[in-house]
Amino acid sequence: MKNYIDLGYEPQKNDLICEYLVQPLRISLTEAANHVAGESSIDTWTDIQTLSESTRQRLMPHVFYINNKTNTTRIAYHSDLFEKGNMPQIFSSIAGNVFGLKSLKSLRLQDASFPKNMVNSFQGPRMGIRGVRKLLNIHDRPMIGTIVKPKLGLTPKQHAQVAYNAWVGGVDCVKDDENLTSMNFNRFNERVDLTLRMRDKAELETGERKAYMPNITAEASEMIKRLHYVHERGGNYVMVDILTVGWSALQTVRNHSILPIHAHRAMHAALTKNQEHGISMLFLAKVARLIGVDSLHIGTARIGKMGGSVEEVLSTEREIQRNYIEQDSENHMLRQKWYGTKPVIAVASGGLQPAALPQLIERMGNNILCNFGGGIHAHPDGTQAGARAARQALDAAIRKIPIRDYAERHAELAAAIKKWGVPS
Ligand code: 3PG
Ligand code: 3PG
Ligand code: MG
Repeated sequence: MKNYIDLGYEPQKNDLICEYLVQPLRISLTEAANHVAGESSIDTWTDIQTLSESTRQRLMPHVFYINNKTNTTRIAYHSDLFEKGNMPQIFSSIAGNVFGLKSLKSLRLQDASFPKNMVNSFQGPRMGIRGVRKLLNIHDRPMIGTIVKPKLGLTPKQHAQVAYNAWVGGVDCVKDDENLTSMNFNRFNERVDLTLRMRDKAELETGERKAYMPNITAEASEMIKRLHYVHERGGNYVMVDILTVGWSALQTVRNHSILPIHAHRAMHAALTKNQEHGISMLFLAKVARLIGVDSLHIGTARIGKMGGSVEEVLSTEREIQRNYIEQDSENHMLRQKWYGTKPVIAVASGGLQPAALPQLIERMGNNILCNFGGGIHAHPDGTQAGARAARQALDAAIRKIPIRDYAERHAELAAAIKKWGVPS
């Protein structure tokens, strides 16, 4: 392998820059960084006769930063190394073979800065924050939602009834759970029909716009069929488990998409949880935004049931500060200016309960969708009361009234607090 260490190199406008955390095994950090750079682009373990000097000069990667204290390295890649609009190919390069190199104990792709020509080769979100807010007619407050529970087991009729109860109780969005698709006890088409009917009823009764996010996760061509089905039946949103379907399938859905896409990240922790190996949630979130999801699960900022998510959300904000593209005052990866790519709604979900809302809003901002599963359906007085408690907690947060004070005059919220307390 040739030498790609080039510490004086100034990244060019069309370079893709990647930041890796590298733990070498029996070689130096510099050698390890060189291996990563070569293997992820044009080179291999030995000097190859077929790699001409002119090709090498034109396409070679540049390791322009190595930090021996933090074990981080940054590599600049010429954008000609990447097929535009092809996310699997980008992963096969910068997040492919390199993870298996014998000379590394571990490797983590932490962040990347995409040049304009790569960013613009993807569609980005169809509707983004503004579009979804318009769809729901909610312009100035966070959105709240629920996941129909139990995850699996309800019939379509029961599912639709639970959804209705949550909508009339006050949630804006109802979604399927990540592992509910088309089961023999709950077929997709029937569920969509019945649930959308209940959505219409709830809209009429509450005078509010409501969204249903049916989970279309399946083999790619089946997803397209389900997407069209939802659209034909008057649906206004779909949900996809973006990691289990894979980037190619997600791109297919986006290319066909006539509806906004809610992105569930089930399986992300197989890549993100080990802080020394894998791929950061920050990078996955960037990829999801590039391909074009409209809302994305990013964790629960220390409050919910899932581990690891705090750091990931906070690093989503921290990491971006050393990003190499235009910044704006929001400085949040899902929202910052990105060559015209629309911003994405951050979704908090997993082990949340109504009284967590003020803190979630404080930590994650206003442009969020907070989803409650058990936090609504385990309310002592049932789903509708649970949804009412969530809406009351939202009202308290918006009006900046301490949640316990607000609960004095709001029985459903009081019952939720009695059961779960107020997270500190
Ligand atoms: C997440 O990954 O963000 C959540 O923990 C899972 O959320 P969900 O499962 O709403 O369905
Ligand atoms: C999940 O699968 O984690 C959720 O759908 C969120 O559910 P929960 O609010 O009951 O944790
Ligand atoms: Mg779930």
